[in-house]
Amino acid sequence: MELKTFSDHASLSAAAASMIIACVKRCPGALLCLATGDTPKLTYQMVVEYAKQEGISFEKCFFIGLDEWLGIPPENSGSCHYFLHTHIFKPLGIHPSQVYLFDALTRDEEAECEKMNKLIAEKGPVDLMLVGVGMNGHVGFNEPGTGLDTITHVAILDEVTRSVGQKYFQEKVSISKGITVGLKQVMQAKNLLMLANGKKKAPVIQQVVKQEISPKFPATIIRMHQNGILMIDSEAASAL
Ligand code: PGA
Repeated sequence: MELKTFSDHASLSAAAASMIIACVKRCPGALLCLATGDTPKLTYQMVVEYAKQEGISFEKCFFIGLDEWLGIPPENSGSCHYFLHTHIFKPLGIHPSQVYLFDALTRDEEAECEKMNKLIAEKGPVDLMLVGVGMNGHVGFNEPGTGLDTITHVAILDEVTRSVGQKYFQEKVSISKGITVGLKQVMQAKNLLMLANGKKKAPVIQQVVKQEISPKFPATIIRMHQNGILMIDSEAASAL
């Protein structure tokens, strides 16, 4: 793993956006797996800007969503679906046929997991995966205690994820379950970018970097990834 520290969220986001653009330049048909959340929002905005400035086409790429809140409809502005469409797919003019996102309203959760596993097996490995880090060390909805060999699965969300997750929603929602690409698939990505910014992430990043690599704190797996880059701003780095 490589650790890169930036002065602020804007410079971190610019660097992450440049890496996504470079990946697509190198491999126009790249398979990209993207997280949602406050951390990557600016990165996606910059990807859109750079793509326009440099005339980079994403029309041969394929996108998958890292995770989703089960039971939250796609039109809810707190859903991962809504986030990715708003912040990256629509602004980049991505065609629906280039995207696969979890169906949060599925009646068959197992089948939904299977679809993603099949898709990654057929189109994968993922060329570039961008993830954040939860306050409990989760990656996607791979919550503390998730085995390192897990593939796509339904997760019972832990207390921290349920309470922190309310920030994405305009109304009070019941978020108890999520669906997520598994840690094994995260590790199989050719390039893994893990982003964190802000003071509140400082204790989290300290654990990611210093604690033993363990399912107890899933984000520690970045340290085992051959092409893993942990990108943090100076505030998130302040407890190192
Ligand atoms: P955040 O979420 O980017 O909103 O902090 C990170 C995460 O839970 O993975």
